[in-house]
Amino acid sequence: MNTDRDWMNTFRPDIPSTARLYDYYLGGKDNFPADRELAERLLAEVPEIRIAARENRAFLQRAVRYLVAEAGIRQIVDVGTGLPTAGNVHEIAQKIEPGCRVVYVEGYSKPHVSEKKNSARAASYASQ
Ligand SMILES: C[S@@+](CC[C@H](N)C(=O)[O-])C[C@H]1O[C@@H](n2cnc3c(N)ncnc32)[C@H](O)[C@@H]1O
Repeated sequence: MNTDRDWMNTFRPDIPSTARLYDYYLGGKDNFPADRELAERLLAEVPEIRIAARENRAFLQRAVRYLVAEAGIRQIVDVGTGLPTAGNVHEIAQKIEPGCRVVYVEGYSKPHVSEKKNSARAASYASQ
């Protein structure tokens, strides 16, 4: 597992990242020119990408609502979390059941540095 400071040695804003491309397609601000340039090139080839990203996010949120509200799940491991955005898994789950625990696992480590401070009591974070 990485430490909070490891991302400083590997952070490359000049190389597009999957997490930041996805953030761009969702309308987020955690992306850089290299990400936006590739994202736009991909959009030119496959214009449906943006809709697919939003539908994927909506599906994730519906699935979490079902698992917590209907199936009684109280512990969730979210592998491939992405960058923090509106409607994160722990926010959806804990709105229904405040005692629900969420562990995030994400290959892109930078987002967890700032988010961890705000959400340490709400969820746990790990990066690979
Ligand atoms: C398309 S985003 C999905 C984000 C979020 N789960 C959602 O559904 O809205 C995929 C994320 O998975 C991460 N990822 C890809 N391979 C991974 C791996 N082997 N381990 C952890 N995270 C990974 C990427 O960095 C990216 O942030």
